[in-house]
Amino acid sequence: MLETNEETSLFFKDGEQNAAVKETEEKRVPTGIGDLDRTIEGGLKEHSVTLVGGSAGAGKSIFCIQFLVNGILQYDESGVYVTFEEEKEAVYSNMKRFGWDLADLERKNKFAFIRYTPEQVEKLLKTGAGIIRDVVEKIGAKRIVIDSISAFTLLHKTELERRAACLNLFKIVRNWHCTSIVIGQYLSADEKHDSTAVEFEVDGIIWLYNIKEGDTRIRALEVYKMRGTKHAVKTFPFEITSSGVQVYPEESVF
Ligand SMILES: Nc1ncnc2c1ncn2[C@@H]1O[C@H](COP(=O)(O)OP(=O)(O)O)[C@@H](O)[C@H]1O
Ligand SMILES: [Mg+2]
Repeated sequence: MLETNEETSLFFKDGEQNAAVKETEEKRVPTGIGDLDRTIEGGLKEHSVTLVGGSAGAGKSIFCIQFLVNGILQYDESGVYVTFEEEKEAVYSNMKRFGWDLADLERKNKFAFIRYTPEQVEKLLKTGAGIIRDVVEKIGAKRIVIDSISAFTLLHKTELERRAACLNLFKIVRNWHCTSIVIGQYLSADEKHDSTAVEFEVDGIIWLYNIKEGDTRIRALEVYKMRGTKHAVKTFPFEITSSGVQVYPEESVF
């Protein structure tokens, strides 16, 4: 059992609690992304809203689509992907590289792809995101990803307007009663420290880093905040492999 204790102490400050064996009262929604769930007491809290943040190319979209695909294939939970950024064809084709056939999941009514152009976003808020709600209901979605909140808030000129739009969006998201991830795109690793309304409003924050070490970049993941969860305190490495994101909570970044 010594081994278990040593391993646990990597995840938790005091090493007293092993997330893998802890029985939680509330339902957890596993990400299915390998050992990540072990570091967050089994998964995201049901109906919570988590921010997945990082710079361009950090792996945010892949990570979040994997959360949806795993939900469908491993937990029979349908998922909706709302994007303000990428084209459907490009996303479907890129995700095929990981063996994820989004077109097939869409045909089976397990997955839905909703794209908003900047011009359509105003309408999105005014109509209370009725279209998304209809899709969520139609496929019985339990998981939803919004890619990204940054693209959405940047459409507003002043900080005050951004904040209001953002809070409004969160209010709508919470009404869908799904377990949600909103993606935050940041220019640099430091930018996020100018905490915005988003960071205070969400239940959890996962940062994805792409750190330059000499001539190579190393990917790392940090569970920065997760309400009601005794989560890992260590930033650990991850890779994007031919089957998607692989995390290595036992390994060190440096
Ligand atoms: N098939 C693949 N195999 C390995 N790495 C990939 C593959 N496809 C994309 N990547 C890596 O993932 C990055 C894009 O990830 P993505 O999730 O789109 O980033 P973000 O949404 O954070 O901008 C690419 O820049 C590349 O480094
Ligand atoms: Mg992206």
